[in-house]
Amino acid sequence: MRSPTDPVRKMDRMYRWTRHVYDWTRRYYLFGRDRLIDRIADHPPGDVLEVGCGTARNLRRLHRLAPDHRLYGMDASTQMLDTARRGLRRDGTASRIQLAHGLASGVGPDMFGRTAPFDVVFCSYVLSMIPNHDAAIRASLQALRPGGTFYIVDFWDQAELPAPFARALQGWLSLFDVHHRPALLDTLRGLEARGTVRLHLKAVGPRYAYIAALTRTTMEVPPRDTETTPPAHAGPAPA
Ligand SMILES: C[S@@+](CC[C@H](N)C(=O)[O-])C[C@H]1O[C@@H](n2cnc3c(N)ncnc32)[C@H](O)[C@@H]1O
Repeated sequence: MRSPTDPVRKMDRMYRWTRHVYDWTRRYYLFGRDRLIDRIADHPPGDVLEVGCGTARNLRRLHRLAPDHRLYGMDASTQMLDTARRGLRRDGTASRIQLAHGLASGVGPDMFGRTAPFDVVFCSYVLSMIPNHDAAIRASLQALRPGGTFYIVDFWDQAELPAPFARALQGWLSLFDVHHRPALLDTLRGLEARGTVRLHLKAVGPRYAYIAALTRTTMEVPPRDTETTPPAHAGPAPA
């Protein structure tokens, strides 16, 4: 029996009804997604995984732009995956994009019956919903081949937006349990300080959101407790 805080149950409850208007409504505030997809489309043909793929809106767009990529998506919500599968059937892409159910903290090639790691893994507006984002980041990096890239697009701190607008936006997002989590960027900077990844961070708008690109440089992804903690505000300056 699942507890009420179980991520699967929680996400299914959150998206049971909104999934039907999800793609249409989110285009007005999940900025940076198309910029990221264009960038992934420019990679040489490879195996690409979206963690927390929702309705598969991103994967379908990526398939249109780069049909030679082999695409995979996973999500915690069976409701979202149901909508995703309907969309793929409508597009005739059900045989081209593989979907799986699971939690980001347990993601890996085996979810799709594979052993080979992915060339690209990406997470679009997912980690700001996951309190235990650390485990999700580590699992995503483990799912990636050395030299591969893990991309994240997500809400930033809106520090350069007018304060009343930023406060209103953050208050509204918190209704959905969505928060900018500074500890998340610290985790990314810690991984860079340890030499596990090369990190490139770029703002979308005036720190409305960010796109992070993490290129995996080593075989080993350290567990949290062996990680180097970076000094406060270390790491690359926002672009
Ligand atoms: C805001 S939606 C983003 C969907 C899609 N990535 C996009 O950009 O349109 C967040 C998605 O993350 C999924 N999600 C939340 N927590 C998750 C977890 N722990 N593991 C896997 N998926 C999760 C939700 O079910 C939902 O589909």
